[in-house]
Parts: sequence; C-alpha cells; structure tokens
Amino acid sequence: MEGRSEMNGIRTRTPEQRRREIRERAEAMGVDEAFVGALVDGFYGRIREDAVLGPVFNREIEDRWDVHLAKMKAFWSSVALGKEGYDGRPIPAHIKLQDLTHADFERWMDMFAATLDELGASEDARLFFLERAGRISASLQMAMFGNPELGLPPAGAWAKKTT
Ligand code: HEM
Repeated sequence: MEGRSEMNGIRTRTPEQRRREIRERAEAMGVDEAFVGALVDGFYGRIREDAVLGPVFNREIEDRWDVHLAKMKAFWSSVALGKEGYDGRPIPAHIKLQDLTHADFERWMDMFAATLDELGASEDARLFFLERAGRISASLQMAMFGNPELGLPPAGAWAKKTT
C-alpha cells in the first residue's frame, strides 16, 4: 500500500508526500492563502477588541502587530496549506505569559470558532481549524500548567528537580 511500510503497517510519508496531501485537503475544504489571511486578520481584529484577551495581547505585542499577523499567517499556512516559511517556537512564546488561565484558552477557542463562522468556512474547514487549534491549545496548556490529575508537571519542571 502506498505510503505504508511493508513491515508493520505504520504509515511513513516523505515531507513532499505530506505537503501534497495537505494541499489536496485544503483545496477540497475551500481553504487557500486568501482564506488564511482573512482568518488571521479577522481573529486578531476580534482579539484586540476583547475586554479580557485584548489587554494581554496588546501588552505583549505593543506596536509589533504587523510582525505578529505575518507570523500567524505563515503558521496557519504551514498547518493548513503545507507551505514552508514558519519556523517559530510556540511553547516558549506562551510559557512566558504567566497570568494566563484555562478559561483564557477557552475564550481564545470561542473567538476562533466565531471568526470561522463569520467567514462562512465550509463545515470541513471549520472542523479542521478547530481540531488543530484545540490540539495546540491543549499542548500549550499542558506545557504551561502540567496535568495535576495525571501527576504531570509543567514543561521544564523535570530539569529543575534536584536530587
Ligand atoms: C489565551 C490564549 C493565548 C494567548 C493570550 C496567546 C498569546 C500570544 C502572544 C502574546 C504571542 C506573541 C508572543 C511573542 O511574539 O513574543 C503568541 C504567539 C503565538 N501563538 Fe498564541 N496565545 C494564545 C493561544 C494560542 C493558541 C490556542 C494557539 C494555537 C494555534 C496559539 C498560537 C500561537 C503561535 C503559533 C504563536 C507564534 C509563536 C512564535 O513562533 O513565536 N496561541 N501568542
């Protein structure tokens, strides 16, 4: 079977195959560069006006909104369109935001969903972006807060432990 190892059935794809699959899926979902641009502009337009998250972003980004928007367009173009050009590091960018809570991340997701609805995203595109954002949100929260129920500390805690 194409893309599957004969040994164990585990799917292995080259970076080129992966990008081609992403591009085909994007086309089927009606997602292109213009859509990603409108999503990022629309979402951060909302965020900047938001009573809770606006001050957090404005405090951190100050007068560098053009840089942030370009970075986020490159990020979502990489995730959704298989484009190269994003080489940032999301976890350190968020770990330094010490005052965030789980509720802030939920608010972020609600605003992301509202932007997708406003843009009239196809059902597939809506599910795709929410699934991706949700997974990244969960991994950022895991890195920031750990998971006390599972006894897992935030990122960096193991290295700080002394014997
Ligand atoms: C309440 C929740 C969040 C807040 C307040 C927040 C805030 C920020 C801020 C202030 C930055 C800019 C950091 C800097 O340039 O120094 C940033 C970067 C970024 N954020 Fe978030 N964020 C949140 C949630 C998320 C989620 C859920 C995603 C998932 C897609 C995300 C993806 C990113 C990415 C990819 C960057 C660029 C990181 C880099 O490469 O530098 N953020 N965020």
